[in-house]
Amino acid sequence: MTVIVRGGTVINATGATTADVIIEGDKIAAVVDPSSDIAASAARSDATVVEAAGRYVIPGGVDVHVHLQLPMSPEATSSDTFETGTRAAVIGGTTTVIDFAGQLHGTSVRDAVEERLAEAQGQCAIDYGLHLSMGDVHDQSLKDMRSLVDEGMTSFKLFMAYPGAWYSDDGQILRAMQVAAETGALIMMHAENGIAIDVLRDQAAGRGNTSSVWHGRTRPPELEGEATYRAIQLATVAQAPLYIVHLSAAEALEQVVLARDRGRNVFAETCPQYLYLSLEEHLDQPGIDGVRHICSPPLRSRADGHQDTLWTGLRTDDLSVVSTDHCPFCDSEKLLGIDDFRSVPNGLGTIEHRMDLLHQGVVTGELSLSRWVDVCSTTPARLFGLQGRKGVIAPGADADIVVYDPKATHVLGAETHHMNLDHSVWEGVELQGKAETVLSRGSVVVEQGEFVGTIGHGRYLERSIPEPLR
Ligand code: URP
Ligand code: ZN
Ligand code: ZN
Repeated sequence: MTVIVRGGTVINATGATTADVIIEGDKIAAVVDPSSDIAASAARSDATVVEAAGRYVIPGGVDVHVHLQLPMSPEATSSDTFETGTRAAVIGGTTTVIDFAGQLHGTSVRDAVEERLAEAQGQCAIDYGLHLSMGDVHDQSLKDMRSLVDEGMTSFKLFMAYPGAWYSDDGQILRAMQVAAETGALIMMHAENGIAIDVLRDQAAGRGNTSSVWHGRTRPPELEGEATYRAIQLATVAQAPLYIVHLSAAEALEQVVLARDRGRNVFAETCPQYLYLSLEEHLDQPGIDGVRHICSPPLRSRADGHQDTLWTGLRTDDLSVVSTDHCPFCDSEKLLGIDDFRSVPNGLGTIEHRMDLLHQGVVTGELSLSRWVDVCSTTPARLFGLQGRKGVIAPGADADIVVYDPKATHVLGAETHHMNLDHSVWEGVELQGKAETVLSRGSVVVEQGEFVGTIGHGRYLERSIPEPLR
């Protein structure tokens, strides 16, 4: 079956051009000048035509950091399932997500992976992959790490935060990085100094400082900067590439800049919440409004300029990727910590809005169109072993394509979003630009902004070794 996406402005990370995109089956066959003979003969065939004049034609978004149906505690599981989360993602123009299998302390890597694969199987509207969150680094889990790389699971998250739960000490981190250096896997680091943070949290609670803003005040940016520095040094010693997840603070970015300027294979992602929301305006609110904004790392102070610094980092390529760290909890679960920030399940819901929130950066002049595509699609695909398959509009790539209306305006909120979430940290935010039609591997799955795909269409992605790019 042939599909032609006709007459749009095709935007890749390398630039933009007016072109027809010809799709055969689930792959892109050609990107051609609309006045060419190839375009004319494709149009004469019985091809399905998707009109894209006046629209952008971009590679589907690649969100490499999501937590769907994640049991955070016995009482709180993130509220989007693989079904609701991937459906919301594709409505927003994201066609690939990478979630996590989680190896809790005392459990086996193999069991964690098998269980998570079974949970996702047949439940996804779009293609999906898994990283492994390693919560227990020892001889067997390092052996399992090697075999997972051979099987196409090529990225591993470690935690310098959450002592007593996901935390790894420096020795464990170094050992995992050494395996990454050997195998070509990518270590993803949650870089916050959890040991020091726990001292500050308990001290604050001891003084009766238990409201939501104390979540932020007890996770100061210096402790993200310090952990980022340490992770970079450990990766340097191990000679392993490193990817810092959900970078939120100027202090952490400073370390990434230094490392990259020295030619190190260090990458970092940030998330829309760290670009737009702040400690003062969002986290420091009374009651449920503040608690809804609890995530880790926390929202940062606007007075200290973190948000502006992160936008600059995206422009200078010191920040390589924007993911969501989508980890939504409904109010009933956020309320578990209404009297003590330490009991609030951490995480926000953004999976549906990432492409639009970053396009808003194009509208306001923070990013170029190509850089938007680069940080939301092309580089995340490349760093996570999907290079050439996802994140690019080129012959041979999967036909994951978004026809994007750059003029459509909309207002975000819980009434209209498709995430399984009873509130929105983006309530009332006005945006320009919206996905109109979305194709996943050549099938139209969103039409006029409505989901018309099928749950179970999404396939599990075995990934290759990420390219160690700067
Ligand atoms: O608050 C957050 N980020 N929740 C998800 C877990 C994590 O550390 O990424
Ligand atoms: Zn994390
Ligand atoms: Zn996360």
